[in-house]
Amino acid sequence: NKVVLAYSGGLDTSVILRWLIETYDCEVIAFSADLGQEEELDTVEEKALKTGASKVYIDDLKEEFIKDFVFPAFRANAIYESQYLLGTSIARPLIAKRQIEIANIEEADSVSHGATGKGNDQVRFELGYYALKPDIKIIAPWRIWNLTSRTALMAFAESHGIPVPSTPKNPYSTDRNMLHISYEGGILEDPWKTPPEDIYILTVSPQNAPDQAEEIEMTFEKGNPVAVNNKTMSPATLFKELNRLGGKHGIGRADIVENRFVGMKSRGIYETPGGTILRTAHIALESITMDREVMHLRDSLIPRYAEMIYNGFWFSPERELMQTMIDKTQENVSGLVRLKLYKGSCQVLGRKADYSLYSEDFATFEDDRVYRQGDADGFIRLNALRLRIREINKH
Ligand code: ARG
Ligand code: SIN
Repeated sequence: NKVVLAYSGGLDTSVILRWLIETYDCEVIAFSADLGQEEELDTVEEKALKTGASKVYIDDLKEEFIKDFVFPAFRANAIYESQYLLGTSIARPLIAKRQIEIANIEEADSVSHGATGKGNDQVRFELGYYALKPDIKIIAPWRIWNLTSRTALMAFAESHGIPVPSTPKNPYSTDRNMLHISYEGGILEDPWKTPPEDIYILTVSPQNAPDQAEEIEMTFEKGNPVAVNNKTMSPATLFKELNRLGGKHGIGRADIVENRFVGMKSRGIYETPGGTILRTAHIALESITMDREVMHLRDSLIPRYAEMIYNGFWFSPERELMQTMIDKTQENVSGLVRLKLYKGSCQVLGRKADYSLYSEDFATFEDDRVYRQGDADGFIRLNALRLRIREINKH
């Protein structure tokens, strides 16, 4: 039998790789997805083979990640519990999807991952696996083995000739991809304690950001960003540019206590520079291109849509239904937004669109062709009817 393991080359998944071989006497195929985590992927293949993998897949999924996962969520302005831009949540289904594709190619009957048994990631990976390959066998070592401490893990690694990282481990856990970096656990667990300034990687501190504000222009087509400062770019290239701009100006830091799907609250620090700019710009463009009722109805459903992504239900009928609706709302969300980036803030300076619903004529009080001021009289009186009746009945 064969197992496809989601492998990063770090200590945990290296130990898992060897542990799978020893425990199940199986062949292990190591798979690493490049989602822009900027880790040393060149050494991963060699490491995996040395640790015992029979074959290694290293796949650059950056364009697919931004185009087919990040952009759909940002077309919806998806946000979990009003604060979290879903940077980790949205990456898991893509990893699961590719892992299952590899299992099919290799005729493997099992998959494995290194997520702990305490968090959301295990749920997201495994819901993805089951949704795409209903009879897949899943091995989640963290839920079954007795290597429960870092010391035990190190000891296992040493006794099996697995290279142990020489640099001390960060006193917190991180997850990085093109959309964000998250930090949680360890020294961050006390939600009262200020996170140390030196944890941040993608963004400068707003205080140290340039004193000179920077203006940028973003172009959208059907809800997707297609150009920055008039330069057309592929989804991943564009996103990288937004990250650079946001990072330079200290944009997109967040300190959040969130509700995990499995039940507990957890405190996390996030850096989402490009995503924060994109969301601000997108909302600004929608404000002139989207019908009021469509917008309010859509907005009312976004907490549910975000929850679907957070909880791991990307490959589900309800998420697909929502996506169809969301994408329909984006048909006219095309145009330009101008923004000012300055010391942690991203401010809208202007927006315009060919299919704008905003009309200076209607907004001003002079033109009487469409809007007749006299109509407001009855409109207000009828809307006031039940308010008046309620007050009359009090007396
Ligand atoms: N709390 C965030 C989420 O559930 C981030 C999780 C980070 N995962 C990790 N393996 N470090 O999406
Ligand atoms: C983990 O437990 O592997 C990370 C945190 C999470 O999944 O929520």
